[in-house]
Amino acid sequence: MTLEDAKKLAEKLREEINYHNYRYYVLNDPVISDEEYDELMRQLIELEKQFPELITPDSPTQRVGAPPREGFETVTHSVPMLSLQDARNEDEIREFDARTKRFLGLEPDAVVEYVAEPKFDGLSCEIVYREGRFTLASTRGDGVLGEDVTPNVRTIRSLPMRFLKKENAPPYLEVRGEVLIKRRDFEKLNQELIKRGEKPFANPRNAAAGSLRQLDPNVTASRPLDFVAWGIGLMEGERPKSHWKVLAMLEELGFKTSTPRRLCRGIAEALEFYRKLEEERDSFEYELDGIVIKVNSLELWEKLGTTARSPRWALAAKFKPRQKTSRIIDVVYNVGRTGTITPVALLEPVEVGGVTVSRASLHNFDEVERLDVQIGDTVLVQRAGDVIPQIVMVIPEKRTGKEKPILPPKQCPVCSAQAVREGAYYKCVNISCPAKLVQSIKHFASRRAMDIEGLGGKTAELLVEKGLVKDLADVYYLNPQDLLKLPGFANKSVQNLLEALERSKNPSLARFIYAIGIPNVGEYTAQVLARHFRSWENLEKASLTELLEIKGVGLETARSIVSFFQETRNRETVEKMFRAGLTVQEEKEKKESPLAGKTVVFTGALSSMTRDEAKALVEAQGGTVSNSVSRKTDLVVVGENPGSKYQRAQQLGIKIINEEEFLKLVGKA
Ligand code: IVH
Repeated sequence: MTLEDAKKLAEKLREEINYHNYRYYVLNDPVISDEEYDELMRQLIELEKQFPELITPDSPTQRVGAPPREGFETVTHSVPMLSLQDARNEDEIREFDARTKRFLGLEPDAVVEYVAEPKFDGLSCEIVYREGRFTLASTRGDGVLGEDVTPNVRTIRSLPMRFLKKENAPPYLEVRGEVLIKRRDFEKLNQELIKRGEKPFANPRNAAAGSLRQLDPNVTASRPLDFVAWGIGLMEGERPKSHWKVLAMLEELGFKTSTPRRLCRGIAEALEFYRKLEEERDSFEYELDGIVIKVNSLELWEKLGTTARSPRWALAAKFKPRQKTSRIIDVVYNVGRTGTITPVALLEPVEVGGVTVSRASLHNFDEVERLDVQIGDTVLVQRAGDVIPQIVMVIPEKRTGKEKPILPPKQCPVCSAQAVREGAYYKCVNISCPAKLVQSIKHFASRRAMDIEGLGGKTAELLVEKGLVKDLADVYYLNPQDLLKLPGFANKSVQNLLEALERSKNPSLARFIYAIGIPNVGEYTAQVLARHFRSWENLEKASLTELLEIKGVGLETARSIVSFFQETRNRETVEKMFRAGLTVQEEKEKKESPLAGKTVVFTGALSSMTRDEAKALVEAQGGTVSNSVSRKTDLVVVGENPGSKYQRAQQLGIKIINEEEFLKLVGKA
């Protein structure tokens, strides 16, 4: 390929890739598959490898891979990037309208045309396009001097590297807008950071800023940044006459622009938009902190001019903030239905997003550690939508030295039984704790535990609500008269439930250990414990040291078993069950199975089970199944129409049995 041909092809590929990028990242409406897109990219990368002199800075291949830098260069904004005057309520918005008219010498009842659009909570940025190509990107900085973040901004996929439309495109254009992170991406990013042991960001705005101002653009590239254009700086060529048309122009050039937006005749329509957006703010993929109301006519912009800090033609109408600072007065503990004890911070009351907040959940003790939060700390409190208020972070500058650490709970706040750690949580060990009794019953009766049919969640709730069950053992003291009074119970269902309870009274030790609900003891641990201790009495007497000697029992588990039995109420509850006739089967010493360590071969069809089932039976008894007969074979099981393996076994003098004998051997007949 000649250089000339290669150049043409590279151009063609770039145009195509740019267009598909736009369809995917700006319109969210791709017209080719990911594979086809990747193929185009691959072709371009190949070509640029062959002809490196053809690489241009705006080539889609250059979005990533730029080397880290020492620091940021300074960029001077040709038109200062000002800030906006704020309004916090509707009166202040109306006041802005009145002020605008006064300044323009208009009558108070004149109608000014405004554009209302979302105020995105990100980081403002200016991007210079020369001849329709991305050339320079800078942060707002102090408004006059910004930082050169070109390689970082280049990695933002929704930003065109060249204009989508060439005709009448301005030869020089400064595009202004917001670098953002979608809320969902923000949550994901924070989860990843926490997983890696790094500090999460307090909000999407900080995440966007932190990701953009990275000396290593490869870090920026790994962050899901987005760009929404809301205006322009300097422009060569004929400037549109209104802000509405500026946004339309930007859209045609291939940018994401501030949407939804509304062209408003008069401030009343802007107020409507304000109310509507605040109401719907949770349904947007970006975090919005208000709307921006801008006079539409650029001619009026000239007339209105700017103050030192902000233009007179625009207003930021803020929504109620969802993050406020407050102080933690104390920490109390809450018990959930599963016995999980969560720390709750009591706060100096603050109004957040229109609601007074005086408590915030700290979730668990991993969270307390992660936040490094103490009683007395000043913290950032957040409330979004209808979720419970959260503590986002501690403001370390406000520490006085008088703060007190938040200690793990020693006791359950409801029943004052011991609290034991289970992962990130503390749990109440009392199986009859009123806060969790329903859950305890439900677990106790569940299929893999005591398997008491008819004692599900609904019934458990009823029994506790009506006071028929005050501790777990009470389920074995239910009588038909009381049960018949329960809504939905009739003779038949009462009889079924009582029979199911009766049937459950002779559980294996493993089942009973699992059912009783010791924190940290699941089905597997229950089996391990049953095999080791053989009886409930032995388990009850076990010391921490003894428990720790068992393979498969860790420190947390051992501690919670000991705490469980230290709790008098737990021992009494179990005693009470025994008095009701419950007897736990002792775990018998398993005698060595005749198949342990033996190699078994099957030949011919089995009538009572499949080959897989037969294999599982052998394996369960410690034997192995082989496919061919050799001198190492210990036993051959012969079914209908056996094959050559049968003769071979006879030749080698290996023990041969039939299906019936096999079933006896494995204890199934
Ligand atoms: S117009 C003269 N429109 O808000 C400044 N700004 O507080 C004109 N912002 O620095 C700004 N969304 O970063 C404008 N739709 C929007 C915006 C918006 C967010 C940010 C922008 C600006 C800050 C001012």
